[in-house]
Amino acid sequence: MAQKDVGHKVPIHTLKTTEETMNLYDDWSLDDKYNQDMIDWAYSGPEEVVNAFAKHAENKNISILDAGCGSGLVGKKLSQTGFSMLDGADISAGLMKLIPKGIYSNLFKIDLNKPLDFPDSHYDAILCVGTFTYGHVRAKALEEFTRVVKPGGLIGFTINEGVFAEHGFESLLERMVLDRKIVELELFLSDYLASKDVGAWLGIYRVL
Ligand SMILES: C[S@@+](CC[C@H](N)C(=O)[O-])C[C@H]1O[C@@H](n2cnc3c(N)ncnc32)[C@H](O)[C@@H]1O
Repeated sequence: MAQKDVGHKVPIHTLKTTEETMNLYDDWSLDDKYNQDMIDWAYSGPEEVVNAFAKHAENKNISILDAGCGSGLVGKKLSQTGFSMLDGADISAGLMKLIPKGIYSNLFKIDLNKPLDFPDSHYDAILCVGTFTYGHVRAKALEEFTRVVKPGGLIGFTINEGVFAEHGFESLLERMVLDRKIVELELFLSDYLASKDVGAWLGIYRVL
């Protein structure tokens, strides 16, 4: 599939290492540029995921990890929707500095490609928006999310349409469903970043 990109000065699909990715976002955070670009580009990922997630969440008092929280756009939308028990995790200290106060209870600077330092069944839900894409977080993190979420809890995410099949996300999701680890509640091609013609699969799954 043709590699679609957002036209940032470093093409996202050329990113190879976590360090390159972290540097890109630290740089993008300067002068609030990331947040301004997301407004200018009408980035709809956070709103689409939170809206889909809210339909399936048991109540508003559940504990949620925003994995790849960046500058907190998903946390802000969750908070506006009434969810209040939020933690965030990201590799870019620069972006995390842009997070408005009072959204997350805990912030963790971690690499989501490594085993997560959370016990089994720790959170009621994990959301991961914009972070499954070229050179970012690999499919294997879905297995870690499933371990860290309580049985009956939810995982919700976007996966860039260009990596969905080619980087093993689609086959891993299918296998996890067949193995009765998760059950699909929603999976559809969302608008995501329509102004840049970048689509993403939006998934909401229940952990079994
Ligand atoms: C497109 S941004 C999305 C941020 C936020 N979720 C949003 O929707 O605005 C991708 C995020 O993934 C983070 N990221 C990329 N690779 C990562 C990794 N290996 N571990 C943790 N975070 C990572 C970046 O720092 C960045 O904040």
